[in-house]
Amino acid sequence: MKVIRFSDLVAQGQVAGKRVFIRADLNVPQDDAGRITEDTRIRASLPAIRMALDAGAAVMVTSHLGRPTEGEFKPEDSLAPVAERMAELLGRPVKLVANWVDGVHVAPGELVLLENCRLNKGEKKNSEELAKKLGQLCDIFVHDAFGTAHRAEGTTYGIAQFAPQACAGPLLAAEIDAISQALANPKRPLLAIVAGSKVSTKLTILQSLAKNVDGLIVGGGIANTFMLAAGLKIGKSLAEPDLLSEAQAVIEAMKARGAEVPIPVDVVCAKAFAANAPATVKAATEVDDDDLILDIGPKTAALLADKLKSAGTVVWNGPVGVFEFDAFAQGTETIARAIADSSAFSIAGGGDTLAAIAKYGITEQVSYISTGGGAFLEVLEGKTLPAFEILSRRAAG
Ligand code: 3PG
Repeated sequence: MKVIRFSDLVAQGQVAGKRVFIRADLNVPQDDAGRITEDTRIRASLPAIRMALDAGAAVMVTSHLGRPTEGEFKPEDSLAPVAERMAELLGRPVKLVANWVDGVHVAPGELVLLENCRLNKGEKKNSEELAKKLGQLCDIFVHDAFGTAHRAEGTTYGIAQFAPQACAGPLLAAEIDAISQALANPKRPLLAIVAGSKVSTKLTILQSLAKNVDGLIVGGGIANTFMLAAGLKIGKSLAEPDLLSEAQAVIEAMKARGAEVPIPVDVVCAKAFAANAPATVKAATEVDDDDLILDIGPKTAALLADKLKSAGTVVWNGPVGVFEFDAFAQGTETIARAIADSSAFSIAGGGDTLAAIAKYGITEQVSYISTGGGAFLEVLEGKTLPAFEILSRRAAG
């Protein structure tokens, strides 16, 4: 998919003196006092901002934070903590501007952060009236909010329709490059790990990946449903028996392509869902009626680790066990370390996956960590995200 890249406009000298509007995703987690607890997304937004400032643009940046009610400002919706963190990281002041839809004063070489864009009436539904106003604020619109690329809102879609120029920022471009390298043009074997509590929330991802990947490793409650589909007993483990035929269809689709869904050969069980519940390793054929499966067993983990080590490409979404409890974290840790040790191109995304990566300290060994949550999942589903649809339309003229 061809989109105009902001870096190309900079290289062509088209940015100096221009009003550049960057839509970033600065939707970061905060504690009850409003302090930012994790700032990856702010850090990831800096290259676009620096690129625009270095090129001599007048720079406006905005983002949503949470899901506020449009037109009803509450202090907790403010991007003020983000402005503060961004200023620290950039080593320069970042002025926060409220009520900015009807005009923003910003000179070349200056940077302003525009208050939470979801406070503007019409943002969520992408009203044409708002979109036109947004388009008039800038000469160049830079979409750099991969985490929000699956939303067609005023600042993620509408503005791209009406701004004189619309392009992809470096983060958005890097995300799509990494995902295309992993899914569209992968070095094989291509293995995907899709784990999580429910098949239902990831069924379309499983179905889409089943057409492409060489191995589909399932974990968590999803694996339990697949174990049931393979005729195994899972005791009182979390599963969705009403989706057995869908799970079977995924297994069959993979088999028909000469690919596989490895079903666990052993599991770690407990009698209760608790950090201190005694953990018992059992063969997958020996799960009792009152057992809860909370992790894959060591034999399964070793088999999967072997596959991951010799993979060409790995796509990882979801921990394979309850890794927050140490007794049930071994499977996820083994998988994480195998990915870290593998020479495969690896791409990971999703909140729990990022938490596991941080827990095992393998950030540097994963080839690409996506800033997208829902957006990453929608790409895995094979969807064209609205951001790319509109930017490619604009690139086509
Ligand atoms: C996210 O955190 O996944 C993105 O910032 C999108 O947020 P949203 O689900 O509120 O649109």
